[in-house]
Amino acid sequence: MTPIAYIVLGFAGLGIVIGLIWRMSSRRYTLPCPSWLGWMVELDNPFTKANRARVIIGYLGLAPAMKVLDAGCGPGRLTLPAAEAVGPQGEVLAMDIQEGMLARVREKVQSACLQNVECLQAGLGDGRLPRTYFDRALLVTVLGEIPDQVSALKEIHDALKPGGILSVTEVIFDPHFQRRESVLRAADKAGFKEGSFFGRQLAYTLHLKKPAEAGPLLPRVDAGP
Ligand SMILES: C[S@@+](CC[C@H](N)C(=O)[O-])C[C@H]1O[C@@H](n2cnc3c(N)ncnc32)[C@H](O)[C@@H]1O
Repeated sequence: MTPIAYIVLGFAGLGIVIGLIWRMSSRRYTLPCPSWLGWMVELDNPFTKANRARVIIGYLGLAPAMKVLDAGCGPGRLTLPAAEAVGPQGEVLAMDIQEGMLARVREKVQSACLQNVECLQAGLGDGRLPRTYFDRALLVTVLGEIPDQVSALKEIHDALKPGGILSVTEVIFDPHFQRRESVLRAADKAGFKEGSFFGRQLAYTLHLKKPAEAGPLLPRVDAGP
């Protein structure tokens, strides 16, 4: 092997080790994908169609005037196509735990002259989302970064209208990849019913449905006195 091959293999190995440590630590600690890596998140992966923004939005059947939550929106890769799909009468709430990611969303929203996007800096599970408000929610390569996945899913459940759909996308290239079975287990505890499945085991979008008769799961968090 040439020295270059050793260097490339060394970097690849180091990347895998860092990815594994990050993945394991995320089960206990909140360690989101840092905003300085936002440029990487914004790229549509050339190896899988499953994670392309237009494909995910296409599955969701968005219509004008719908209200959409983009939970863990990152730099807004899906926020903008969602905002275009629901039109000026619709709304998109771009939510992320990191202000650095939301700053990028605001920049993009401004240059696209969109008026129907709001940003919320909050962590899923913090109880900051409105109740029974959204028609659709997106959770694209986010779930594995959240230590308490059931609480996060319960908050999205309560934020959706009865009959609303949460679209979860997972791809194996993400160090926090979640298998379909594991997503379904957490979703079941959060009151969702399994819906349509698109793609393959290692790169997929899974729709989870809030039953039409479902009531709230979480106690209301009241703002102080
Ligand atoms: C890999 S990025 C995916 C971004 C975007 N969904 C996409 O596919 O382009 C994961 C994002 O989830 C956010 N995140 C992680 N934990 C979160 C939490 N508890 N609540 C809200 N956002 C969170 C991170 O800050 C990061 O921006």
